[in-house]
Amino acid sequence: MKILHTLKELREELNQARKANHKIGLVPTMGNLHEGHLRLVDRARESNSFTVATIFVNPLQFGENEDFDSYPRTLEKDSSLLAARNCDVLFAPNIFEVYPGGLKAESTVHVPDITKHHCGASREKHFDGVATIVTKLFNMVQPDQAIFGEKDFQQLMVIRKLTNDLCFPIEIVGVPTCREPSGLALSSRNGYLNEEEHLRASKLFAVLQQTKKALESNEDIVVARQQAISSLTENGFKLDYLNIASVDTLLPAKDADKEIVILAAVFLGATRLIDNIRVSLTD
Ligand code: PAF
Repeated sequence: MKILHTLKELREELNQARKANHKIGLVPTMGNLHEGHLRLVDRARESNSFTVATIFVNPLQFGENEDFDSYPRTLEKDSSLLAARNCDVLFAPNIFEVYPGGLKAESTVHVPDITKHHCGASREKHFDGVATIVTKLFNMVQPDQAIFGEKDFQQLMVIRKLTNDLCFPIEIVGVPTCREPSGLALSSRNGYLNEEEHLRASKLFAVLQQTKKALESNEDIVVARQQAISSLTENGFKLDYLNIASVDTLLPAKDADKEIVILAAVFLGATRLIDNIRVSLTD
């Protein structure tokens, strides 16, 4: 696997790959990789002949009081993990390579509407940061396919929308969330949890599963949501949000909606965890 740090090197490498008729798959990450990320690489390799993973902790998507400074930077370990999964190129640019004009002076990408709720409501500007970096990475790599985890469900929807709206000829692939045996979704932020919090964290997915069952048994959406909020609070989570939404619009689900997603963000101590579960209701 080649490890590249500059856009010039990346473009040279990709020109060669395109000349050799490779189909290019992109896996954008912020590093501190776990099995969930590595599955994205596996998925990229299934339908592409050349896989590029990127590692860049993007300051633009962190709020002022968030964990940008403490976000783990583990490039050496990450590159061994990627090499072991037969990734072809790791692109790990520095900030000047990505934002040469300076963070405050450059153009940004804003995706309207679906960014207003859920994580967008509590993390102002987060999705502008995500949309901007993903757009830049799409232009830098020009992949045929880009792979993202479904754990960040709203992010995936935002990326699908921007790809469509801005006419990127890129297929967006979502990969199911990778979980610990306890049900806890793998996340780079799980490393912030102490032992007791780690054990308790698995309750988040348990509550999502219970809520899914309740909806499948025709429980009223408002009641199911209230029960989920109570269970989370009883289990010691501080709630950011728990919302039951239509998959297509991410707006609050209505009785007629059949494809639903339950989205949650909670705090355990200072650690913010997110997760979601899909529900398909039949008549
Ligand atoms: O999901 C992430 O790790 C990040 O939001 C992404 C998509 C790599 C953009 O920085």
